[in-house]
Amino acid sequence: MHNKIFENYQPNDRSTLIPLLQEVQTIYGYLPENALRDISNFVKVPLSRVYGVATFYNQFRLMPLGENIIRVCRGTACHVKNSANILFALEAELGVMAGHTTRDKKFTLEVVNCIGACSIAPGYFG
Ligand code: FES
Repeated sequence: MHNKIFENYQPNDRSTLIPLLQEVQTIYGYLPENALRDISNFVKVPLSRVYGVATFYNQFRLMPLGENIIRVCRGTACHVKNSANILFALEAELGVMAGHTTRDKKFTLEVVNCIGACSIAPGYFG
């Protein structure tokens, strides 16, 4: 399904790595392993380096997202309001750690750093 994207790029050009990763992620919503291998072969960059780039940038995902994405802010203001407890409660309820998706693919739990809503940071002290 993703092989058509290579028609728009020159092979062996490592400068196209990030645009290719972005296009693949647009197609699948994440970066499947077989697509990373194909990109590695196309741009002639070792697979380990492709993974290095894909894991360095927050925009890229190596796992598919769930139907619903829950983001818990762990920025300073939310940390002070004890957002860790919200995160722990969600992890316990969903049965997954932050950065993962539930088995039924209904929820993905993520941690973010400040979403610009510091003044309304919720507190959870239970
Ligand atoms: S620190 Fe959480 S919204 Fe800013």
